Amino acid sequence: METPLTVVILAAGLGTRMKSRQAKVLHRAGGKPLVEHVVRTALELAPPERLFVVVGHQAPEVQSAVERTGARGIRFIEQKEQKGTGHAVMMGREALAGMGGYLMILYGDCPLLAAATLRQLVRAEIESGAAGVLLSAHMEDPTGYGRVIRGPGGCVEAVVEQKAGTPEQLALREANMGIYCYRADLFWKHVDEIQPNNPPREYYLTDMVEILHRAGHTVGAIRIADPREALGINTRLELAEVDAIFRERKRRELMLAGVTIENPPTVTIDTGAEIGMDTVIGPFAQILGETRIGENCRVGAGAVIEDSELAEGVEILPYTVMSRAKFERGAHAGPFARLRPGAVAGEGAHIGNFVELKNTRLGAGSKAQHLAYLGDSQIGASVNIGAGTITCNYDGRLKHRTTIGEGAFVGSNSTLVAPVEIGPGSYVAAGSVITDPVPADALGVGRARQVVKEDWARKRRALGKKQAV
Ligand code: UD1
Ligand code: MG
Repeated sequence: METPLTVVILAAGLGTRMKSRQAKVLHRAGGKPLVEHVVRTALELAPPERLFVVVGHQAPEVQSAVERTGARGIRFIEQKEQKGTGHAVMMGREALAGMGGYLMILYGDCPLLAAATLRQLVRAEIESGAAGVLLSAHMEDPTGYGRVIRGPGGCVEAVVEQKAGTPEQLALREANMGIYCYRADLFWKHVDEIQPNNPPREYYLTDMVEILHRAGHTVGAIRIADPREALGINTRLELAEVDAIFRERKRRELMLAGVTIENPPTVTIDTGAEIGMDTVIGPFAQILGETRIGENCRVGAGAVIEDSELAEGVEILPYTVMSRAKFERGAHAGPFARLRPGAVAGEGAHIGNFVELKNTRLGAGSKAQHLAYLGDSQIGASVNIGAGTITCNYDGRLKHRTTIGEGAFVGSNSTLVAPVEIGPGSYVAAGSVITDPVPADALGVGRARQVVKEDWARKRRALGKKQAV
């Protein structure tokens, strides 16, 4: 039987160096809260019931970020007062000490870490039989990280924090990445020896290395090849750096899978988005959240697409903004269209410039090409919505629906006062205010009849001249 692995993620701190009212692990990189990335990676190594997250600052929000992974059964440990990383793990003693096997500790501010690296760490721990193994990296500038102190034989003797190190220790370039795998029995046996004997009076988890070494155990370290993978985020500068790495990774992965990205550094694609082959993404586009884009689509420059679904062959022209919208095969939108939650474009539908849809389905092959607001509406197939059409869906108190049947033609600048129904195959005359239903195949006209006053202008001009004399 495989030896069980328990994973603990520390995510209780506020993150003072972020200068924020929001807990650090809730800040986003690659479009997701930092802690969500770490939890997703950990779930590749351990089942949810062996995964623990230590929460404190904004605990309910951190818990919801964890639950966004969809995994059920992850357990939370509360650290009411944040007295350091060692203290955070101690809070889990009751829940964790009985778990046996190996204990992996990860920090919630370290989101780029790959599951493969963590597996390597566990393997190193099991194969070496050491009391623990940590991940380290050689860094050009390790300022802010703990330094790994090695003894004469190269074995790890201690980790010294930036705040506590001597100049000689701080000159060392091997940094502690804050990722450990310990033998659970030894860890819990010695955990109480971690004491706040340092200037900030914190319980440093890193002291465990020296404690185990002094007790005659071996602690190993494996160096990761690319220290970028274990970048910890403590400031907004580091947040931007890590975000840029996520963005670059995602663009590379998509381009290698057959997506064309024009002017790649300007394009932002969240890690949760999926894009099909032969789709072309224009410069400065943003593809956010859990957006799914099919094959052979085109997303124009500056378009912002969030949590939306685009079937194959959809064309989104520049500067279109959408959130929670759905486009069926071959539908078009933009330039400058706005699709709000619940907007659905049927197969081959056209939504043109300055057209806004909310909670509205525009049927297959239907067109709303210019300057319209369509809200809370059900619009059938092959309908033409003229320029300037407005569905008046709100009476100041309640929202009402508009229904437009297949093949109807709504003339320009029509005002459809909901609730109202425009029957299939009917016409609405341009400039109408429609308050009553228009039956199938009828013409609805709702405007004042035009009056023509012959010679009116000439007479007015003549009158004007007389007055001037
Ligand atoms: C820590 C390590 C340092 C390492 C670096 C790598 C210690 C003492 N130092 O420093 O050696 O090089 O990470 O990124 O561990 N947290 C809690 N409760 C607390 C304090 C912190 O849950 O009481 C959580 C934070 O939310 C955070 C994580 O632990 O996610 C790490 O804390 P942080 O303050 O960022 O530690 P570093 O100073 O970066
Ligand atoms: Mg940190």
